[in-house]
Amino acid sequence: MAVTILAIESSCDDTSAAVVRDGYILSNLIAGQEIHRLYGGVVPELASRAHQANIVPVVDQAFIKAGVKAGDINAVAFTRGPGLLGSLLVGTSFAKGFALARKLPLIEVNHLQAHVLVHFIMKEGKEHRIPSFPFLCLLVSGGHTRVILMKDHLTMEVLGNTIDDAAGEAFDKCGKVMGFPYPAGPGIDKLAKEGNPKAFKFSKPYIKGLDFSFSGLKTSFLYLLRDHLKNDPDFIENNKADLCASLQSTIVNILISRLVKASQETGVNEIGIAGGVSANSGLRSAVMEEAANRGWNLFIPEFSFTTDNAAMIGITGYYKYLRGEFTSQDVAPLARF
Ligand code: KG4
Ligand code: ZN
Repeated sequence: MAVTILAIESSCDDTSAAVVRDGYILSNLIAGQEIHRLYGGVVPELASRAHQANIVPVVDQAFIKAGVKAGDINAVAFTRGPGLLGSLLVGTSFAKGFALARKLPLIEVNHLQAHVLVHFIMKEGKEHRIPSFPFLCLLVSGGHTRVILMKDHLTMEVLGNTIDDAAGEAFDKCGKVMGFPYPAGPGIDKLAKEGNPKAFKFSKPYIKGLDFSFSGLKTSFLYLLRDHLKNDPDFIENNKADLCASLQSTIVNILISRLVKASQETGVNEIGIAGGVSANSGLRSAVMEEAANRGWNLFIPEFSFTTDNAAMIGITGYYKYLRGEFTSQDVAPLARF
């Protein structure tokens, strides 16, 4: 019998619902929240209110697009965490209510594990390359920066983690002072293409092992702006493309250096990137270059699967369903997993 899963993602500021059947994605709907742009970052209370308004229409559309009805669903998967508690509560409550009403099993999903599992999503009529295990994945998002070793679909070991800011946070915080709207990553990426990545130098962290640090870079970036703005009030406007290119290239270098080290230390050449920052064109080119030089079997997600989406929750839910890993109606969301 086919296994059809309704998946819900609401960990931050995107309300998303997907229908996944036997590992194939039938629909993946995302309602973003423009309201946060006004505040330069996600406002948790506004996010949970917007999730409440969006969740029912988004699920409705996911059913319509997939051509399924509520009665076709075999299980409900949802993001339990990590994320904003108020936001997670909306998705969790919806999933619990839906499962209870239709007497369906509930599947809790770790948002970070789901980002990595995008590499296993299949689409009807499309050829698939799927990683084999062990698989080494660089997960780079707005809240997390990790090197993860996947031993099978559901067993992951964190080899390296950020000790302060995440890579996406470095893009967003530095972008904010340059006047980019939130989130700044895509805008910096676009303008960086017109700039010189060697125009400015920022301090790089010296961290042992496979961990990351971005707070030193952020401070170094802010000091550079402060010093130049004293003599030239238009410094940012006059150098924006070079600032973006230099900042992006420093972040990418930090990320790549850890990924290369992890591959060397583990001997794993099955490599992927995932998370919002994996949409970055500089990171994509750099990782492709490393793959060509080092003989990596490289996996880069399609753009729609880089940022938060419910398809990734659905594919993770599918593998948990196959293992019979269900959760009870007592489950509560977790801001930290
Ligand atoms: O994975 P995600 O959607 O949400 C979290 O789980 O955090 O990632 C969002 C992050 C934001 O920091 C955003 O600026 C960054 O991904 N981002 C990018 C790009 N697209 C999104 N950063 C750099 N270049 C991009 N093209
Ligand atoms: Zn995410």
